Amino acid sequence: MNHESTLKSKLYSIETAIDKWLPAASTRPIELHKAMRYSMSSGKRLRPLLLLAAAEVNPRPEIDPLPAAVGVECLHSYSLIHDDLPAIDNSDLRRNQPSCHKKFDEPTALLAGDALLTYAFHLLARAYQPYPEIANLLVLKLSEAAGSEQLIGGQMEDILGDKLPIDEQRLAFIHQNKTAALFAASISMGLALGNNDLPIREKGHEAGISLGLAFQILDDILDVEGDPSLMGKPTGIDAKNKKITYPTLFGLAESRKKAHLLIQKTLSLIETIGTKDSFFYFLCSKFLEK
Ligand code: IPE
Ligand code: IPE
Ligand code: MG
Ligand code: MG
Ligand code: MG
Repeated sequence: MNHESTLKSKLYSIETAIDKWLPAASTRPIELHKAMRYSMSSGKRLRPLLLLAAAEVNPRPEIDPLPAAVGVECLHSYSLIHDDLPAIDNSDLRRNQPSCHKKFDEPTALLAGDALLTYAFHLLARAYQPYPEIANLLVLKLSEAAGSEQLIGGQMEDILGDKLPIDEQRLAFIHQNKTAALFAASISMGLALGNNDLPIREKGHEAGISLGLAFQILDDILDVEGDPSLMGKPTGIDAKNKKITYPTLFGLAESRKKAHLLIQKTLSLIETIGTKDSFFYFLCSKFLEK
């Protein structure tokens, strides 16, 4: 199979696994489970793809990486539901459809986010029960990345926006934590499912950080000059919310240069973990096409 067909088949397996593992929409309370499923529909599935790609490095074929991939996507989708709320970014469109609080209402969106966050950890603990050491590592990695010093910490400094003095270091802190931490966790979790020792997992983590930083710079650029119909979310939200971003700090051309350098760094790290012809390398190099 070439890499493009592998990508298609992995995307298909992620969609099937999400449908299989999430509580049915008919589960009581129906409105809540409908909202959880609604917000988990579509999306580029980058984090689960990274996890599946990393799980192919020195794999243990008896362990199914899909529940972990779904767990990471639940966590990510929760962060998007809350990010879109009027109290945070106030954004009405997500993944080509009304944001959760627009489709349902704010209390339901808040609770659907809470429920997806909790469910991510439930799924890891349940699906990997036969492998307690792995279950422990997965929960550790995901909870670190999602916690108050990383994803939520990054979101906190992001919403403080221009209330704090801003320079490149602070912007890097925000991007590293609100976005890159979960990319890094996805790769570390994938590697933790295989026969990979700490040095390899740490390299994977580093690759995830540089890829995540690049991704958030590109996301900031798209907020300025992207096509909302292709992105499935509005543009101009950062400017409206007076966010300090890479384009506001450095301009578009310099930001693009920084993102490409970070992707090159990611690719050289991936080369030391896997090979240049691996699906993992292919997936990370696809980010260059953005
Ligand atoms: C959006 O992430 C949030 C950011 C970190 C910029 P994605 O662009 O991966 O969103 P989906 O999952 O494809 O909707
Ligand atoms: C979102 O960053 C990061 C998290 C949700 C943790 P953004 O606010 O830039 O993401 P978009 O542009 O709304 O997707
Ligand atoms: Mg935001
Ligand atoms: Mg946002
Ligand atoms: Mg954005």
